[in-house]
Amino acid sequence: MREDFSASLLARPDLADLVPYEPHGWEPGLIKLDANENPYDFPAEVLADLFAGVKGQTFNRYPDPLAGELRADLARYVGARPEEVLVGNGSDELILNLFLAFATGGSVAIATPTFSMYGVHARIAGAVPVAVPRRAGDFGVDTPAHISCARSPQVRVTVLCSPNNPTGNSTPPEEVAELAAAARGLVVVDEAYGEFGGRSCLPLLADHPNLVVLKSFSKSFGLAGLRVGYLVAWPDVVAQLLKVKQPFNVNSFSQMAARAVLRHLPLFCERIAAIRREREALRAAMAEIPGVTVYPSEANFLLFRTPLPAEQVHQGLVRRGVLVRLLDGPDLPGHLRVTVGRPEENRVFLAALREVLAAGDGPAQ
Ligand SMILES: Cc1ncc(COP(=O)(O)O)c(C=O)c1O
Repeated sequence: MREDFSASLLARPDLADLVPYEPHGWEPGLIKLDANENPYDFPAEVLADLFAGVKGQTFNRYPDPLAGELRADLARYVGARPEEVLVGNGSDELILNLFLAFATGGSVAIATPTFSMYGVHARIAGAVPVAVPRRAGDFGVDTPAHISCARSPQVRVTVLCSPNNPTGNSTPPEEVAELAAAARGLVVVDEAYGEFGGRSCLPLLADHPNLVVLKSFSKSFGLAGLRVGYLVAWPDVVAQLLKVKQPFNVNSFSQMAARAVLRHLPLFCERIAAIRREREALRAAMAEIPGVTVYPSEANFLLFRTPLPAEQVHQGLVRRGVLVRLLDGPDLPGHLRVTVGRPEENRVFLAALREVLAAGDGPAQ
């Protein structure tokens, strides 16, 4: 047994305090409303179409490194050229690639509170994450503060999510255009929830060569388990990203599944519309519960708080069979986030929340 070797001493000191991503307490039987996933599995006819295609497929070969067919389909879907599209292993991978290609040794300005992986990926890429707090109250982007940050020479990439996770609000493209025109570096608009609401920034790409629009198949298209995301940007931005991308980043099956989604878009659009309707019904019902503050949302989740400590509400809901996301950090003290589920799941959540608040929350079995 060697004693002169220590992984922790050898590892990068700048990441010493980085906490690995952990699953957030899901166990079988719990209604899962914690990760902004789509509550509906693939429609049967899309699965049948996908499996019919799989029959003629050989998985002994590496996947197409550029996901050429999917890239072409996506280009048609968003009205871009294939060389303006890059497919990733979830949009998560593209976030890391953006920082590896453009931000290492510099800074990344992030409109916060937001998706926590932005800060993590910045650090992994050896960049400094700089938080630019959103306005208190409506969580709108503080455009003047963001512009002054994005003008600084160290800031290589500026990030905002629209609609934003976990606040649910979107940013008008006019504000993004102002930011992109003023920024020295890239401006990344993350539209992972874009199909659920807000106006897309894709049309801004024509005038802004430093803009990147990031999209995901995980939320609106229910493909979180197969990891497909993509971005749309100018070809020279994509060309830089190709230098840091893993060659075979998106597996063959996932490429086929994403193409199957695009062949059956109307089915997915119906589901998206249903989730949007259900979101409004859930929000109205939550707003009627005494003491609950629930924010407007253009995504597939709702941010809320109650008079009880958030940890207590979280645990009370878990004891009643529902898992939501606890956000009790410094950014959003006392807040929680619930994903819009199927109608029956939302009913169980509402009943559980009413009970937790009425019980105050007493020890439930
Ligand atoms: C704003 C935002 N961007 C990106 C992602 C990552 O999505 P993907 O599953 O495509 O990696 C998430 C996931 O929750 C998110 O909330």
